[in-house]
Amino acid sequence: MIPNPYRSLHCNAITAAHVGQLVTLSGWVHSARDHGGVIFVDLRDREGLTQVVFRPEENAEVAARSQELRDEDVLQITGRVERRLTGTENPKLATGEVEVVVTELLVLNRAEVLPFQLDRELSNEDLRMKYRYLDLRRERMSRNIRQRHRITNAARNFLDEQGFVEVETPVLSNPTPEGARDFLVPARLSPGKFFALPQAPQQYKQLLMVAGLERYFQIARCFRDEDLRADRQPEFTQIDIEASFVTQPDILNLVEGLLAAMFKAGRGVDIPTPFLRMTYQEAMDRFGSDKPDTRYGLEITDMADVFAQSGFKIFRSTLEGGGVVRAINAKGFAGITTGQMIRLNDIAIQAGMKVKQLAFIKVERDAQGNLEYKSPLWKFFEPSEREALIAKLNVEENDLVFFYAGSWQEACDILGRVRCEIAQMQALTEGSTALNFLWVVDFPLLAYSPEEQSWVAVHHPFTRPKAEDLPLLEAGEYGKVRAEAYDVVLNGYELGGGSIRIHESDLQARMFSVLGISPEEQQVKFSHILEAFRFGAPPHGGLALGLDRIAMLVAGEQSIREVIAFPKNNKACDLMTDSPTTVDFRQLRELYVQSTYKEKRREEAASAETAVNPPADS
Ligand code: AMO
Repeated sequence: MIPNPYRSLHCNAITAAHVGQLVTLSGWVHSARDHGGVIFVDLRDREGLTQVVFRPEENAEVAARSQELRDEDVLQITGRVERRLTGTENPKLATGEVEVVVTELLVLNRAEVLPFQLDRELSNEDLRMKYRYLDLRRERMSRNIRQRHRITNAARNFLDEQGFVEVETPVLSNPTPEGARDFLVPARLSPGKFFALPQAPQQYKQLLMVAGLERYFQIARCFRDEDLRADRQPEFTQIDIEASFVTQPDILNLVEGLLAAMFKAGRGVDIPTPFLRMTYQEAMDRFGSDKPDTRYGLEITDMADVFAQSGFKIFRSTLEGGGVVRAINAKGFAGITTGQMIRLNDIAIQAGMKVKQLAFIKVERDAQGNLEYKSPLWKFFEPSEREALIAKLNVEENDLVFFYAGSWQEACDILGRVRCEIAQMQALTEGSTALNFLWVVDFPLLAYSPEEQSWVAVHHPFTRPKAEDLPLLEAGEYGKVRAEAYDVVLNGYELGGGSIRIHESDLQARMFSVLGISPEEQQVKFSHILEAFRFGAPPHGGLALGLDRIAMLVAGEQSIREVIAFPKNNKACDLMTDSPTTVDFRQLRELYVQSTYKEKRREEAASAETAVNPPADS
């Protein structure tokens, strides 16, 4: 091996075994301290820290130059490893028993004063993003990025061992519907036409099955123009998988093995398999979510049997009208603050609640020591209902029970969100190391979208209806058809989703029609896939995992931004490179694109002006 002139060892590797040896190290000045004319520097490289000492008696010229060292200067030093004086060891550091007494110093580059200190937590996210290359120097970020590398590597190796072939698919492509807006790219050589960046390589991977590849995977960049959240970015990475001649259990087993390999590589834990499997119906009924966090209870309870004959009209009439009455008992939460109550109601309203307040019962002891059921509803309940309610929800002192009466979907949406918020308020997962993986299966194939006034695919249009539900599809009972679709969930996060696919051209065309895509539109948008399915398409299925979300959960972070080297901020901008940016008018002209943004701004300004200074006759 050719010796590296910059270093003989990394900064984490020097131990008592090296005492007396000459070593060369390169890295950054993590910190520098002057102890009465002797400069101590913690020298940092990717692997760790070593204390290096500049003693005037060792080399006066070097020691004099060391006085000028500043944080984050880049150095190369050579020196002798010595044991630290007794009492000055640092047991927290791998190299804490020793120090390097410097005999040669080369300043490879100087650093100006940094915009923030690297060893302090920084709450100003914009500053972190603007100087992301500095932010990435921090230990936490460097650890996250390298951990992500390890889990990606484990995934690649695992899939390779299982006979999967990695194939890159185009980034400049046709729109593929995954439920978000497309990012469009004007095509200069086809004037007036656009590419769409892939929301997922869905159609390509299916076409690779038609091509006979049988087992495909890709660490694929995906692009979705949608509202951002802590677990969403406009560009993100999927571990995308497709296989032929497989059934649902094959895919679920494969993905369990894959996730086990990734968590082992990233976190050193053995996750038990098989994962729990739960139908969509059960997940929604019990947790109000298709990605339930099962680390805590707070389950939703159906109260139909308690209130079927109730004198409380709202509950009874909701049930008679085909709706539901459901409740959550937040154990020990009677001490909820007014602020928390307001927040819960706001969340319920955001989730679709039409009234201002969730109905509740708070159970506290009064001055006489009797249990008191504080509630606007309690007086309407018969003694038998009260008894049944207490028994069914196991209501005890200090409990807080919330009710919702309405449609099934509303009850799931509202109580599901309220459940998560209560868990957060009660800090139910704080300190938990549980990894509650589960599969949600038997999703509905279609959902009715009132906004679009049509049926939409719950996963995507290529998902296969369950064979036993095909008659329902034929009968037009679209809402009842279940799909051969599955999602893998961890602690309330959807890690991935997939399905067994439609592989017959006729069934695919039928599916497009149900989704309101006319035969003409099908020809324009999907002729390639409809045609491919006529040339011997094998049965196939697959799934895609969100790599960023997995890396986030492995790292114990709260946002995928912490595991992406150069993420966008919550306005989908990159503050470091200042993108997106305006482009030159000539560039747009070359692309046959015209921006109407200025006109829009002018119109907005004009209407704002009118609002402030209305015309005299209005
Ligand atoms: P789906 O849309 O469920 O399925 O995506 C799969 C997984 O990708 C991750 N994900 C995201 N991660 C970060 N930011 C985003 N904006 C984002 N959107 C999705 C999630 C999600 O579970 N083609 C299908 C897969 C298939 O059927 O094989 C698909 O893309 O972890």
